[in-house]
Formats: sequence, C-alpha cells, structure tokens
Amino acid sequence: MADKTATLSFSDGTPEITFPILEGSLGPDVIDIRPLYNKTGKFTYDSGFLSTASCSSTITYIDGEKGELLYRGYAIDDLAHHCNFLEVCQLLIYGELPTREQHEKFNKLVLHHTMVHEQMHFFMRGFRRDAHPMAVLTGLMGAMSAFYPDSMNIHDPKQRERSAIRLISKMPTLVSMAYKYSIGEPFIYPDNSLSYAGNFLRMMFATPCEPYVVNQVIERAMDRILTLHADHEQNASTSTVRLCASSGTNPIAAIAAGVACLWGPAHGGANEACLMMLNEIQANGGVEKIGEYITKFKDKNSGVRLMGFGHRVYRNYDPRAKLMRETCHEVLAELGLQDDPLFKLAMTLERIALEDDYFVSRKLYPNVDFYSGIVQKAIGIPVPLFTAIFALARSIGWIAQLNEMIADPEYKIGRPRQRYVGEKLRKVKPLNER
Ligand code: SDX
Repeated sequence: MADKTATLSFSDGTPEITFPILEGSLGPDVIDIRPLYNKTGKFTYDSGFLSTASCSSTITYIDGEKGELLYRGYAIDDLAHHCNFLEVCQLLIYGELPTREQHEKFNKLVLHHTMVHEQMHFFMRGFRRDAHPMAVLTGLMGAMSAFYPDSMNIHDPKQRERSAIRLISKMPTLVSMAYKYSIGEPFIYPDNSLSYAGNFLRMMFATPCEPYVVNQVIERAMDRILTLHADHEQNASTSTVRLCASSGTNPIAAIAAGVACLWGPAHGGANEACLMMLNEIQANGGVEKIGEYITKFKDKNSGVRLMGFGHRVYRNYDPRAKLMRETCHEVLAELGLQDDPLFKLAMTLERIALEDDYFVSRKLYPNVDFYSGIVQKAIGIPVPLFTAIFALARSIGWIAQLNEMIADPEYKIGRPRQRYVGEKLRKVKPLNER
C-alpha cells in the first residue's frame, strides 16, 4: 500500500476502505479510487468533474492559484517569447524542444503536407456560404477521417505520428478554405516557402490577382496566438477527444468531436462571444455604460456573463491573457489602431471588473479569450472564424493528448457511470388502459 493513504468510513455499515494517495510531479495529490465500486458497490459523484482527475499526463500543467501554465515543464511566457508554434508542436508531441536540425526537418515535413486532397474541395460545396466556420470545420474533420487509411491503426506509434503531422499541416489550409468559401473567393493553395503562420495568413488574405506580402508583426502575432492556444490540460474539448478516441476510433474523427465541443460559448466560442459583447457595449454607449453592463453580468437572472472572464481552473490571471494583451498592443501599434475603441473599452472593462467585489470575491479574472478577439479582429479575421483559429491551434494539443492516452498501457475505454434518479421498474399497460 502507498505510504500516503485516505480511508473512507461509512455510516451505513459498509466496511471502511483505504485508498492509496498518488502524488504528481506538480500539483494536487490524487486519491486512487478505482477499486471503490468493486469493493463497496458505490460510485463517487462529481458532475462537471470539479474534483476528478481523468488521467495521468506529462503534457501540460496549470496552477490555477498562481496563474501558471507549463507545456512539458516550460512556462508559457518563456515559450511565447523564445519559440515559434512549430517548436511548441514538437515539444507537445515528442516531449522535448527540438534542436535546430530537428526543427528544420520538422518544419520541412509539416510545410510539405499542407495541401489537402482535392476531393476535400467538394465537401465545401455542400455548405451554405453563411454556414458557421465551426460547423464547416466539424464537417471537414469528419470528411478528412475518410482520406487516410494508412493511419487508421492508432496502436501503431508511426501511424499516430503521421496523423499528428497531417493535422498540424492541414488545419490552416482547411480553416482558410472555410473562410474563402464564406466570402466567395477562390481557395489559395499553400506556399511552402513561407512560415507556418505566414502561410496561413497568405491562404486567408491573398487572392490570385496580386502578390501578397506577409506583415512580419502580424505573422509573429498569429504565431503567438497559436502557441497560446495549443494545449490546456484536460479542458472540455480535450476530454472529449480523449473519451472519443478511447474507443479506438479514427483519430481524425475524434478531433472532429473536439472541434464540436470547442465551439460552445462557455469554451472556445468565448472569444467570439466576447467580441460580440464588446461590440454591443460600444454600440450602446461605450465606456459610459460599462456600469450598467457590469450590473447585468452580476445578475444571475440576466442570462449573460462577462465573456472572457472566469475559468474553471484559474483563480488568478490566465497567463495567456497577459501575453495576448501584449500582442494586442503590438498589433494595434503596427496597424496604427492604438486608439482602437474596442481595445480601450476592453482595458476599461477589465480594470472596472477587477475592482468589483463580485468578480474579485469569485476570483474571476480575464482568460485567454478576453483579448484574443480584439487582436484577431485587428488582423482582419472575421468574428465567426475566431474559434476555428482556436481549433487550428488546439489540434496539436488534442492529438498530443490522444496519442499519450493510446500509448498508456493502463488506458481503457472511458465509460463513466451515473446516479440514477429515474423511475423504478414498472409494467407496461396495454394502450387501451393508458
Ligand atoms: C476556455 O477549461 C479550459 O482550460 C478552457 C480554456 C482552454 O484553453 O481550453 O481555458 C478555454 O474555455 C476559457 C473560458 C472561456 N469562457 C468564457 O470566458 C465564458 C465566461 N466564463 C464563464 O462561463 C465561466 O467562468 C467558465 C465557464 C469559464 C467557468 O465556469 P465554472 O468554473 O463552472 O464557474 P461557475 O459557473 O461555477 O462560476 C462560479 C461563480 C458563479 O457565481 P455563484 O454561483 O458563485 O454566485 O462565478 C460566476 C458564476 O455565476 N461566474 C461569472 C462568470 N464566470 C463565473 N459571473 C459573471 N461572468 C462570468 N464570466
């Protein structure tokens, strides 16, 4: 038995049971309750998984109290200032930052798989032009799962790596296709001479009619946006991907499930919802009306929340929000938008909320979504596409977490139980007696 244990005693005569306490390398210990049901016939109850560790992982660590985020042990601000997104992809997949030679090889590999199968274009034709990009991306992920029979066996590490590379390579192409389709412009093929972020910007904003020059400040900002959104421990969409993939299904199909989950406004859809909130405040009196909105955000019956604030784990500033605000300043200065009213409104809203006891007492701080919408809008990305870019970045986290789960000899198909509160056994009455 482990040297640290937890003993559960029951008032209903069930014999007490002792569980081992397992330590992590960082963060809370966990009580290993796996034998609980077999030994006591009882389940634990934790809807929303507020106190439940679903797995052991070596990928990302979050300290909610301190507002710290580590990818494979490296602090997010260290990575954001010293690495590019593809280096971070290698770190998340392989566990170590690449050497120059490894990075150049990976860069070449990724940039030479950026085209999608030409047949993928036909799936786009089925969508309305005004279809939400996250609906399109969910569909394209499902479609893409049919194209690579050579990487269906997720128990083969080589095939898992192939799926990861394909996903990193092709997501920018698919997201830019969703955008181009929505505005009726032709798809732009990848240009492998550009950086990963530069290639994405060109596929988004270039046209066949004239040369497109990548703005290096915007390129760096896009690269940072991708790094900040790459992974985040066992959030809702990552847990969805893990649970879906635990059945052994096609990994790209499991990513489609993650895209669908990320779409929600409580999760990845918050950046879109946050910008819509800022636009609404701006259109209805701006800074002068912030007090009225804050009152509404605090009123449970209003049905609206201060989007971009609060987090299940962070009880302090989301470190990504600070970095995103820094990127905001850089991009707005580069584009001569320092007086961007939405940015000023966001900073005023942040200051007022952080002085309001309702938010302070509940430890509600800005999260990554609070500023990401402003910087993406400044770059020229349409609001409905914000979450699709979040999905582009998070694909690396999803596939790294999926691959870690499949490689874990202890992994089983995920199958939670429930507390049943429905009808007890009853007999069916014939129709004429009901
Ligand atoms: C992401 O999990 C991840 O890691 C996600 C993510 C990632 O990288 O994958 O970080 C990305 O999803 C960031 C979060 C984006 N969502 C938003 O910005 C939407 C607004 N935030 C809230 O909906 C909320 O804060 C959540 C969903 C983010 C967290 O929800 P919790 O932990 O379940 O918090 P809760 O609902 O239990 O709230 C605790 C209290 C409640 O009040 P009381 O019942 O205690 O009186 O805080 C209140 C809530 O009403 N509250 C808010 C609020 N967030 C929480 N009140 C007003 N505005 C808010 N934003």
